[in-house]
Amino acid sequence: MSALPRGSTRSGANIRVTGLVKRFRSGGGTIVGADQIDLTVPAGATVAVTGPSGSGKSTLLHLIGAIERADEGRIEVDDIEVTGLSGRRLARYRSGIGFVFQRFHLLPALSALDNVLAPLLPIRTGFDKVERARGLLAEVGLGDRERAQPGQLSGGQQQRVAIARALVGQPRLLLADEPTGNLDSATGDEIMNLLWRLRDEHGMTLLMATHEASLADRCERTVRIHDGRIV
Ligand SMILES: Nc1ncnc2c1ncn2[C@@H]1O[C@H](COP(=O)(O)OP(=O)(O)O)[C@@H](O)[C@H]1O
Ligand SMILES: [Mg+2]
Repeated sequence: MSALPRGSTRSGANIRVTGLVKRFRSGGGTIVGADQIDLTVPAGATVAVTGPSGSGKSTLLHLIGAIERADEGRIEVDDIEVTGLSGRRLARYRSGIGFVFQRFHLLPALSALDNVLAPLLPIRTGFDKVERARGLLAEVGLGDRERAQPGQLSGGQQQRVAIARALVGQPRLLLADEPTGNLDSATGDEIMNLLWRLRDEHGMTLLMATHEASLADRCERTVRIHDGRIV
């Protein structure tokens, strides 16, 4: 594993976004989810993306993670021009991004271990996949719950499984979309502490959408968006 000394925050991916536009068709009209966004995030930084519901936080994360495709503009992550990728290169880029969602998005019929393992199944690795998945479950404090299914776990435990899954591909960039939005505040604090620790230990850039000021305050920088624009 590419573990770095604790406290090292100068690893991870550089992000450069320029003139990013995303439009959605809705009914007869068009909604602009991202409106000429320019954003630079240096390697290892932790940046909060804040704004009211519907302002475009998820859209921005989805575009950077290549879950959705931009209509205009450029996204560069390290030396990769994400907006120009397709096919296998796009799949490889996606497999190198960690994504944590508000609603966990675990597969309910699979065990915790198999959920963490799932992203590795389609790809060839030079390491033992099961050992990697086990190691990550242990890192998030669930080494004794490998066989549990999501329905047998609390919300906080499910989010820990989802975080282990996000890290299994050794991402240099972790995108977290309201990762504590479905959790009570004490559990949310535990999840935030875990994300911070893993960011340092694994050397990642962390971009986090949140509308909670207390979470944004922990980040080095806050980017506010409104109606798809940075304000
Ligand atoms: N797939 C979609 N189809 C149509 N409209 C969408 C879609 N995804 C997002 N939007 C719209 O884009 C805007 C930004 O949404 P979103 O990025 O989800 O905001 P946030 O995450 O800040 O709540 C909203 O008006 C939303 O309704
Ligand atoms: Mg959202």
